[in-house]
Amino acid sequence: VNFLSHLIEKYCDNNTQAEDPVLHQLFRETHLKVLRSRMLSGHNQGVLLTLLSKLAKPKTILELGTYTGYSAICLAKGLQENGKLYTIDINEELEPFAERFFKLAKLDDKIEQHIGKALDIIPTLKGTFDLVFMDADKKNYLNYLDIIEDRMPSGALLLVDNVLWSGKVVEEINPKDIDTPVLVELNKRITDSPKWENVLIPIRDGIMMAIRN
Ligand SMILES: C[S@@+](CC[C@H](N)C(=O)[O-])C[C@H]1O[C@@H](n2cnc3c(N)ncnc32)[C@H](O)[C@@H]1O
Repeated sequence: VNFLSHLIEKYCDNNTQAEDPVLHQLFRETHLKVLRSRMLSGHNQGVLLTLLSKLAKPKTILELGTYTGYSAICLAKGLQENGKLYTIDINEELEPFAERFFKLAKLDDKIEQHIGKALDIIPTLKGTFDLVFMDADKKNYLNYLDIIEDRMPSGALLLVDNVLWSGKVVEEINPKDIDTPVLVELNKRITDSPKWENVLIPIRDGIMMAIRN
């Protein structure tokens, strides 16, 4: 099964448009210089984010979890002229790294970095969000949903990463695990809510895609 899924993954990559050279460099440098580089979105998922953003044509994007900026660049490619992407990360050490790549991608005028806890920063941002990408600390996902869902207008797109959590969402939950129950509850809450039309896409670690009713 592993061998087959590995071949299929490779085939999918080979039949997905080539990675943007700036993103390729960002991917390489993240792996060389930054801890926990597995967190970065990567080629295949990155292109999906770009295409979804291009379809949604958002004026404003909110991203929770900048890390080294890979997904911010992917999503910002779909912004309207004069659009803005607000991205939040608690780790200030990554800010200059991401900023350098926003400049290389010529998107630094469209991307605004905020450093701090997402729960503190979100209320300081004004206006509504046409696209939200949730990719920060999993334990707060329900809190994030609570504070963003009424700031997303009808038709806005919500994308939540890692909703399969390496398959833990279908396994027996370890009592010490605080993240998995939150993800299970989040998936259920979005699915049961009349506020959302949704589909769980089983790409990589699972992406929940939902459109605000
Ligand atoms: C999975 S990484 C984001 C990856 C990035 N979106 C990408 O695709 O390249 C998660 C990030 O969330 C940040 N983070 C963790 N807790 C946070 C919090 N409470 N508020 C804001 N960011 C947080 C971490 O510092 C980390 O950089």
